[in-house]
Amino acid sequence: MCGIVGYVGPKDATPILVEGLRRLEYRGYDSAGIAVISGGRLERRRAAGKLGNLEAVLRSTPVSGHIGIGHTRWATHGRPSEENAHPHADASRQLVVVHNGIIENYLELKERLSATGIVFETETDTEVVAHLVASYYEGSLEAATGRATKDLRGIYSLVLMHVGEPGRLVATRLGPPLVIGLGEGERFFASDVQALLAHTRRFVFVPEQTVVVIEPDAIRIVDAQGRIVPFKEETITWDPVQAEKGGYRHFMLKEIHEQPRAVRDTLLGRMSLDTGDVRLEEMGAAALEAIEKADRVQFLACGTSWHAGLIGQFFMEQLAGVPASTDYASEFRYRDPVISPGTLAVAISQSGETADTLAAMREARSRGASVLAITNVAGSQVTREADGALLTHAGPEIGVASTKAFTAQVAAIALLSIFLGRRKGALSAAAGRNLLAALARVPQLMDHALSCAALVEDMSRSLFKATDFLFLGRGVQYPIALEGALKLKEISYIHAEGYPAGEMKHGPIALIDESLPVVALIPRGRGYEKILSNVQEVKARGGRVVAIINRGDDHVRKILGKEDLFIEVPGVEVDVLGVSEIFSPFVTVIPLQLLAYHVALRAGRDVDQPRNLAKSVTVE
Ligand code: M6R
Repeated sequence: MCGIVGYVGPKDATPILVEGLRRLEYRGYDSAGIAVISGGRLERRRAAGKLGNLEAVLRSTPVSGHIGIGHTRWATHGRPSEENAHPHADASRQLVVVHNGIIENYLELKERLSATGIVFETETDTEVVAHLVASYYEGSLEAATGRATKDLRGIYSLVLMHVGEPGRLVATRLGPPLVIGLGEGERFFASDVQALLAHTRRFVFVPEQTVVVIEPDAIRIVDAQGRIVPFKEETITWDPVQAEKGGYRHFMLKEIHEQPRAVRDTLLGRMSLDTGDVRLEEMGAAALEAIEKADRVQFLACGTSWHAGLIGQFFMEQLAGVPASTDYASEFRYRDPVISPGTLAVAISQSGETADTLAAMREARSRGASVLAITNVAGSQVTREADGALLTHAGPEIGVASTKAFTAQVAAIALLSIFLGRRKGALSAAAGRNLLAALARVPQLMDHALSCAALVEDMSRSLFKATDFLFLGRGVQYPIALEGALKLKEISYIHAEGYPAGEMKHGPIALIDESLPVVALIPRGRGYEKILSNVQEVKARGGRVVAIINRGDDHVRKILGKEDLFIEVPGVEVDVLGVSEIFSPFVTVIPLQLLAYHVALRAGRDVDQPRNLAKSVTVE
């Protein structure tokens, strides 16, 4: 989604804005622009397409100044073009605005403003904000912005600059995130901390429904009634180097390889191997009480995080004996969900800012649920709205395709399930010890699983021309089949479907022929024999199988033919409660992530920034 950067201070704003926008590229965009105040005038430079186009414009018509705002636009209203690119200006060219979100009543406002003689230059919803704020301007951008917000419906994060106030930027938000970065004698705005890590690790998260003014040495936040809102400075521990490619060709590849570390860091300090219990005191007393009281768990999430929730369902029911369900956050509030008093809603979100997930959390809370968040971003909106947050320590995830955040989420959910299982008496101390010991071994097994990278790269040669893929899994491998299909389609643009293997004969079997690769997840465990039967059914119809199997599983290899492929991953055995395969998703997902990566690469796709996709989906 759109990215925003703002700067006010002693340095030249232009390179800071462009560099900040570069660090927000991963969010997804199709045009970019900046505006600075230079020599008492507003100067704008904009371009359709990638940042390189904007840089070319800046080379031919350079601009500099000590205050400016920049934007990467992910088109909603109006095609990606130079004139629709932000910043947008008012008619007198005194004021500019950048916007992330959607102004839902923009047509109504446009009509009202047009009636006063204003001529609109773009197809965007954002341009109305520039004219609206200008219409209220009487010498104070802060006051005019405050008045304008009363007319706006929708969701927005807005940063504004006025030529008459060349030492301050003004912002407001309802929905999409915005942070203030604090430097020495300089202040920044950005959509997320990543844009500013090269300048500072000190941040203030902009509260909703306030108007914020930043000057080089000052921050002022007021609420809708004009009252001063106190704010808290937070220090982000992410190392800026973590947000670099570190020698890898793409962020996605780096992040796939970072997974053992991400899972290890997420588990670190939370497992008590002696007592067989999990330590979650960091979540605070209210959250712990809500967890202990829970007699039902409702996971809420989107995309890959929803797949983590599906795995969480297995963990909760098998390890904690607590009924669990998983909903698409984007659907949850449209089905009048019935929430019983002991329901614990668990919102899972890498970014902590996904609009649908936030809306689902609010719906669950309004129906009486306690709400927890599992997120990768400290201070993000989900952490502020939940009763408690369990952070995954995956580090910044830049690739649009989520990889390390997913396995870190699964690790966090495993901890939460064991914690609940111990509280509910479903797990004895011995069972807890056994499970935690198995979890502690997971990062090393993931390391071993990564050794399939060269083989998968080689296999991609014979697979990247396929036009469709089918992914099959059973039990806890079913969400991994869904995740494998999602990874492939989002970065390679090849159609793929994930299916519970047992459902194949109820429809998808009609698709099978020699041109359809069928990726089958066959680690040892409960569903093993059954999915082998499904593999036989595929083979009997001439389908080509790509099998994900445990190392040394000769039995499957004998069933496979010359035309089939197999990838070996280590087994993740747990000797407890008859759920030996429960942690196998940590390793079986790795070859599927690598497969998507290498197929996309061979198909010539932009792996880190696939078309049409945004990393944080901050509009509904
Ligand atoms: O930040 P979130 O975890 O809330 O994001 C949810 C989805 O948008 C995200 O997982 C998306 O599906 C990824 N592109 C998948 O790789």
